[in-house]
Amino acid sequence: MLTFKQRHIVLFVFAMLFSTLTHARQSVAESRQIQSFDSTWKFRAGEIKGAERPEYNDASWLKVDVPHDWSIEGLAHNEATVENATELPIVKGEWKFNKGDDTLWKDPDWNDTFWQTVKLPAPWEEHSNYTEDNVYGWFRRELTIPTDLRGKDIYINVGKIDDADETYFNGVKVGGLGQFPPHYTTAWDIIRRYKVPHELIHYGGKNIIAVRVFDGVQGGGIYNDGTRITEGIFESTSPAGSGGGYINAGTGWYRKEFELPKDLHGKCVFIEFDGVYMDSDVWLNGVHLGNRPYGYSSFQYELTPHLKFGGERNVLAVRARVQQPCSRWYSGAGIYRHVRLIVTDPVHLAHWGTYVSTPEVTEHEATVRVETKIQNQSGSPQQVMLETVVADDKGTEVAHSSSILTVKADSIGVFEQHLKVPKPKLWSLENPRLYRVESKVRTNDRTVDASVTPFGIRTFEFTIGKGFFLNGEHVNIKGVCDHHDMGSLGSAVHKRAIERQLEILKGMGCNAIRTSHNPPDPILLDLCDRMGFLVMDEAFDEWKQSKTMYGYGRFFDEWSEKDLTDMIHRDRSHPSIILWSIGNEIPEQESADAYEMSKRLADICHREDPTRPVTSACNTPAAAVANSFSKPLDVVGINYQIPFYQTMHGTAKLIASETASAVSTRGEYNLVRDGDTVKVLKELNNQCTSYDISAPDWGNTAESTLKAVKSAPWVAGEFVWTGFDYIGEPTPFPWPSASSYFGIVDLCGFPKDRYFLYQSQWTDKPMVHILPHWNWQGFEGQEIPVWCYSNCESVELVLNGKSLGEKKFSDTKDLHLVWKVPYAAGTLKAIAKNDGKTLCTDEVQTAGAPDKLVLTPDRTKINADGNDLSNIKIEIVDRDGRVCPNADNLVRFRIEGEGVIAGVGNGNPVSHEYFKANERKAFHGLCLAVVQSKRERGTIHLSAESEGLQGAQVLIQAQ
Ligand code: GAL
Repeated sequence: MLTFKQRHIVLFVFAMLFSTLTHARQSVAESRQIQSFDSTWKFRAGEIKGAERPEYNDASWLKVDVPHDWSIEGLAHNEATVENATELPIVKGEWKFNKGDDTLWKDPDWNDTFWQTVKLPAPWEEHSNYTEDNVYGWFRRELTIPTDLRGKDIYINVGKIDDADETYFNGVKVGGLGQFPPHYTTAWDIIRRYKVPHELIHYGGKNIIAVRVFDGVQGGGIYNDGTRITEGIFESTSPAGSGGGYINAGTGWYRKEFELPKDLHGKCVFIEFDGVYMDSDVWLNGVHLGNRPYGYSSFQYELTPHLKFGGERNVLAVRARVQQPCSRWYSGAGIYRHVRLIVTDPVHLAHWGTYVSTPEVTEHEATVRVETKIQNQSGSPQQVMLETVVADDKGTEVAHSSSILTVKADSIGVFEQHLKVPKPKLWSLENPRLYRVESKVRTNDRTVDASVTPFGIRTFEFTIGKGFFLNGEHVNIKGVCDHHDMGSLGSAVHKRAIERQLEILKGMGCNAIRTSHNPPDPILLDLCDRMGFLVMDEAFDEWKQSKTMYGYGRFFDEWSEKDLTDMIHRDRSHPSIILWSIGNEIPEQESADAYEMSKRLADICHREDPTRPVTSACNTPAAAVANSFSKPLDVVGINYQIPFYQTMHGTAKLIASETASAVSTRGEYNLVRDGDTVKVLKELNNQCTSYDISAPDWGNTAESTLKAVKSAPWVAGEFVWTGFDYIGEPTPFPWPSASSYFGIVDLCGFPKDRYFLYQSQWTDKPMVHILPHWNWQGFEGQEIPVWCYSNCESVELVLNGKSLGEKKFSDTKDLHLVWKVPYAAGTLKAIAKNDGKTLCTDEVQTAGAPDKLVLTPDRTKINADGNDLSNIKIEIVDRDGRVCPNADNLVRFRIEGEGVIAGVGNGNPVSHEYFKANERKAFHGLCLAVVQSKRERGTIHLSAESEGLQGAQVLIQAQ
């Protein structure tokens, strides 16, 4: 609880902010007041009784500001581990096994002496050569429970089972995960911990455990013994599974106290959450305001009837329940996006009440359609005047309109205005010019509400035969899919982190983002509008048929219309958005009700925004077509499945909604000597090579996909899986790998070699990139494969001053050039040329021993707003400043002044070091420290040290 003095300060700041806001926006906003509600929350993990009640004593809770992700902070760690119960690991050892399926086999008296004896854990392909798919098998074993546990319930740990199981204890079902056909779902990656009630147990005597297993595809059986290894915030048995990066979440509570000045009495007050992960409940002063299951939706509640004004304390309480697994990737947990308090007059713009579109655009004139919803909570009918101004990117008024409407009491009035903008300056990728709609709501000659809605004037079109056009010009969609986590920051939103990602992607020539597989933070969309990216805004990863045990399927029937509608209402004025996606790889593509289900959602999109096409990312396009799942879609998304670019040519508008899934680790090449030759291994020590040769069986290398998309110009372009590495889904490796290998850029924002392949295909400014690094001690004289990417015509390679010849892209079908270079330490230089003229170069040099640290901040001035960031790259270099490509020295940080270390990272998917720490090992010569401002202006001083190396420091100004 705040002391009187603290409260006084809060109140003062609050009043200041209100007055500043009011002054600053006098011309457009006399009445609406928007107050950030990000600071001074209290947090505690766990199920807590009574924490919603205002009188609850939260004195011992942690003070936090939001956006906040308790999962990345490691705060869930203890909570999600097993309660104080006896857990018996039962997997290791001899079991009886039988192929097939018979319900009698669960019977404790069943005679299994003729069954095969097998040693577990092991997949049944191994212990019984059982290689078929879609098959059943049963396991049985005896278990003696010590008598000293008499009367106690126990937990049995049945390890990981591929794919679904039912587990019986003395003939009674005690658990089961995944689902058996006909509604098959896998739970292959989840540890089975089942509670056995004491009534079922013969203490000291014989107990029979029987496990019925169904295997869908690939491995089957009880293949993992469920041993718990905990390293940092990572836990091998986390219910998050590998998908969630083995990081626990559980339940968490937030509380915030605040006071409101007396003169706000009579106003309408709302609390707006950009997102709470997940299944959140919100209370004000003990009154339940609502529940919102989907953690990626934005929502607001009205506080007015339950508020206290003038010196009295209000308590907001938020509970988030993250039952894992719930997303197939790292979700984070908590109030991970911004929160704000909104105060309006009783007659005000409705939530997401302004919808701007540009139905007609010519060179001479654009029609701007503005739909505005005004909510009348005054209790009596109101004559409302809406004044709408369109201002250009310089702030100059270019069109205006005013309309009058009588809005009935307790209802919403809808205005529709059409404004004409002469000689519109178009929004484009190169020139993302934004106009804005300034809305002013007036009643009784008084301005009661106002808002500003940025928008862009542009046209776009998907075609069946020629791909995508923006403002009449063909544009190849060069997109990436990304999840929402920001590496070491977890899922807590920082505008700068998102902006940095977009800057890095822009540098690669990327022009589009797919918000896989959920509505993004609204900041991403603002930035895409401003920076010139196209967006495929995606609602869901699953519908009714869940992909994860606690996935969206649980909520689909009740919530899908609301979640989809809300996403569209929130996002539909953004010029960057060119597609609504109703779902990713929806299993219902293959079901009998495929058509009804996709039609229902596509219809919602068309109803709420007729200006944009609807798509869905189909991984089984044949089934999607056969079952008419694809029929209601305006644009068919094809995930992987390259042959379908051709098969579906001419039948539909197409986008390669997900491609590649190529895997690599930054800095890893996996070169090994094999006699006289050097081999590149795709996988070695849980790392994937950076030569672009590796992808899972459903994916393709980056290069082969680029070529496929290029040769299918009727496809609008591609969204590569993924732009950035993300936490979770560490395909192709299980534990200890914990973050993805799919990124073109690693978890810290350091580009992998693949980045330069895309740059060579997606940009025109001359570039050349050479790989691998040039520290191959022990490989002297051996032929190292050297690859170059370039957008120039040819590349000459020079080793230690001696030319190794020039190669031309016109002589190869590949998008890279290859040399076999006998290794000798020194400098390997790539010289890229057009018409024999050198345009650019790149080189790798053999580095000596690590000698010192070099710190490079991306920004030396940041805002003192408590959320802004400076990303500091730490390089371990030799005496001459060359980065040491194998250095993994531990770097320790010290920070002083008006900043904190928000996170550290190194891009190693196998690392279990804490993200929230003041030290990090380098990985291939690099690591990252992310510095976050406090709310005070001043200097931030970050120093880095490493044993035996010369340290370094940087100064950052928070202003
Ligand atoms: C896709 C899926 C993505 C991700 C990817 C990994 O099939 O849509 O979410 O799982 O596979 O390759």
